[in-house]
Amino acid sequence: MNIVVTGGTGFVGRALCATLSRSGHHIVILTRNAGAVLRVLGTNITAVTWNGRDPGTWEESLQGTDAVINLAGEPIAAGRWTKERKQLIVDSRVNATQLLAHAISRASSRPRVFISASGVGYYGTSPDRRFDERDGPGSDFFADLCRSWEGAALAAQSYNTRVLCLRIGMVLDKEGGALAKMVPPFRAFVGGPITPGSQWVSWIHRVDLVGLIEWVLAHEQIAGPVNVVAPGTVTMKEFCATLGAALKRPSWLPVPGFALRLAFGELASFMTTGQQVIPKVALDNGYPFRYPQLEFALQSLFAGRGSELAL
Ligand SMILES: NC(=O)c1ccc[n+]([C@@H]2O[C@H](COP(=O)([O-])OP(=O)(O)OC[C@H]3O[C@@H](n4cnc5c(N)ncnc54)[C@H](OP(=O)(O)O)[C@@H]3O)[C@@H](O)[C@H]2O)c1
Repeated sequence: MNIVVTGGTGFVGRALCATLSRSGHHIVILTRNAGAVLRVLGTNITAVTWNGRDPGTWEESLQGTDAVINLAGEPIAAGRWTKERKQLIVDSRVNATQLLAHAISRASSRPRVFISASGVGYYGTSPDRRFDERDGPGSDFFADLCRSWEGAALAAQSYNTRVLCLRIGMVLDKEGGALAKMVPPFRAFVGGPITPGSQWVSWIHRVDLVGLIEWVLAHEQIAGPVNVVAPGTVTMKEFCATLGAALKRPSWLPVPGFALRLAFGELASFMTTGQQVIPKVALDNGYPFRYPQLEFALQSLFAGRGSELAL
């Protein structure tokens, strides 16, 4: 297949593009930094410059392509949430997705499938509800962001393109994402759960995220929202105990919410609450999870072998 990817230089995109390229697909990455594509992914992959804000000659790369995969967006947890940063988090996702849907609408030979990232934050947070793809959105900042982001992607449905919105949970791999930030205190024997500890963590091994994307590409009957989480959701306390066991370290020093609020402002509320999300579409359609349970996912990452998708 010919596949156009945005955000292909990121934590998820690097692993995805390397795997798709190894499987024989031809990959074009839309990027703000073409040099990074060459540096990180090598010469097998074509880089085309865009800025995620404006139409331009990059639209030609969508002409006649088979699939578009949209992973672009300003990092969510890279710093304190100021008003400007929150706006950038929203705009870099919603505007980029609108641009892509618009470019798809204008292509004379349109992609058959448009896969666009979203997050489990779509559902809002809850201490006791279990959410699947049939549930509606929550009513906080993340839920509003995911609803607008998905709405922008779904616009491409009007042009006979199959659209999938991936409601992604916390992606696990030791070379990036939340896990790379959590590991150092554990290694230094000062690891522990973010309070209250009872909040749900819906997670996915990066191998299964890449696997699920390849799987939805091939399964033409699947469209709409897909929860990209493992079946074995856990509480924060269980997550940290399992991480401690995988690293052979204790999980004992709780991280209090007030300290997080001092450091991260409003972003802290995202870390002290959560949601239990079920991958109903993936399970009902028979996706074979390689890491359905956290214990095996973390052991695969910390049992002495390198990341399976390390680049
Ligand atoms: N990682 C997770 O745990 C997780 C969980 C839920 C949802 N997601 C979503 O999945 C997507 C991929 O996640 P990731 O962890 O791979 O993200 P990432 O490592 O932060 O990479 C995102 C990519 O988006 C592009 N980008 C960054 N800021 C941008 C901006 N202001 N305007 C346009 N493009 C910009 C960059 O590509 P260039 O520099 O090449 O342009 C970057 O490589 C994101 O949308 C994220 O919100 C991730």
